[in-house]
Amino acid sequence: MPQYKTTKQDLIQSPQKWLITGVAGFIGSNLLETLLKLNQTVVGLDNFSTGYRHNLEEVRSIVSQNQWDNFTFIEGDIRNLETCRQACQDTDYVLHQAALGSVPRSIDDPINTNENNVTGFLNMLSTARDAGVKRFVYAASSSTYGDHPDLPKMEDKIGKPLSPYAVTKYVNELYADVFAQVYGVQSIGLRYFNVFGRRQDPNGAYAAVIPLWFAGMINGEKVFINGDGKTSRDFCYIDNCVQANILAAYTKNPEAVNQVYNVACGDQTSLNELFTIIRNLVATEYPEAKVLKPIYRDFRKGDVRYSLADIKKARRLLGYNPEHSVRNGLGLTASWYIRKKITALPMSRSAGARIY
Ligand SMILES: NC(=O)c1ccc[n+]([C@@H]2O[C@H](COP(=O)([O-])OP(=O)(O)OC[C@H]3O[C@@H](n4cnc5c(N)ncnc54)[C@H](O)[C@@H]3O)[C@@H](O)[C@H]2O)c1
Repeated sequence: MPQYKTTKQDLIQSPQKWLITGVAGFIGSNLLETLLKLNQTVVGLDNFSTGYRHNLEEVRSIVSQNQWDNFTFIEGDIRNLETCRQACQDTDYVLHQAALGSVPRSIDDPINTNENNVTGFLNMLSTARDAGVKRFVYAASSSTYGDHPDLPKMEDKIGKPLSPYAVTKYVNELYADVFAQVYGVQSIGLRYFNVFGRRQDPNGAYAAVIPLWFAGMINGEKVFINGDGKTSRDFCYIDNCVQANILAAYTKNPEAVNQVYNVACGDQTSLNELFTIIRNLVATEYPEAKVLKPIYRDFRKGDVRYSLADIKKARRLLGYNPEHSVRNGLGLTASWYIRKKITALPMSRSAGARIY
């Protein structure tokens, strides 16, 4: 039986207590949805800097009242040690997602990015250690590969970071490693490649490419491609990312612990291909989108050219098996954005790929 299925059955039989930081965000709210559906007890922490109450409301509308009653929300900031301490109390597993995402944001404001992503991370890791949690699973990033030329990306071959954001995510890995050696904290870092799916924010200057394009095309706006469109990414549907988190938290394989893993599909899609797929999906509901063409502009600073993950390590040690291909995930994502009828976006916004 697939590892994920067995793990979910185990969790239903013996529910655990989880802490999700960044619970009102895209990935955090999807982790919440899955864990509540598995009848787990969940504490969520968020300061709403980039997350939304409506994400929590949507989860509430999907799960049963009993499941929702298993959720406690703390509005607070991981930069505050006392808040982290409170959130970690009696927790079995931490899924640490809270951070300021986006390479361009970190280039605009490295200090704020560092405070949230490094100080906040260290606060969480320290208080998780003090609370004696069973495992600390955290959102690492493919940006850690930096300028390393090899493709596909393998976990032990990283280059120099290309942005302040990449530095912060690498520092997370270093701290997790040191906390394992010095204090015996069990952790697992998940290097997400571009994750996409329901509840990913299409708004704001730092929106990621997939929500930005869905929203832009649904609203009949101009869609920009930074560079020639041959830039590629290993886009990963959200349910694959949720699977990786649950497997990482619950794995009983001692070899799997205190490691980092690529979380992706192991499949490359260029921005030109992505544009065509999204346009065709949007056109099923909005036929006028059929004729949309991208507007090409300059490459963006800090963006790597090609990205592709080797996911063998996660398959081997965690039993990770992505259930959704990029195309399948994009289809599911299209239904969500079309149903939501995303509100109009300013034409001037940047429509380049966000890289982590
Ligand atoms: N989405 C991706 O493709 C991707 C790729 C690589 C890594 N990541 C990482 O995954 C994590 C989740 O990303 P996401 O896409 O869901 O982003 P998101 O912005 O939707 O979610 C982040 C959440 O963290 C919260 N948060 C931020 N700073 C906080 C603080 N100081 N205290 C409390 N809450 C805080 C935000 O309000 C938000 O709800 C982040 O760590 C991000 O760096 C994401």
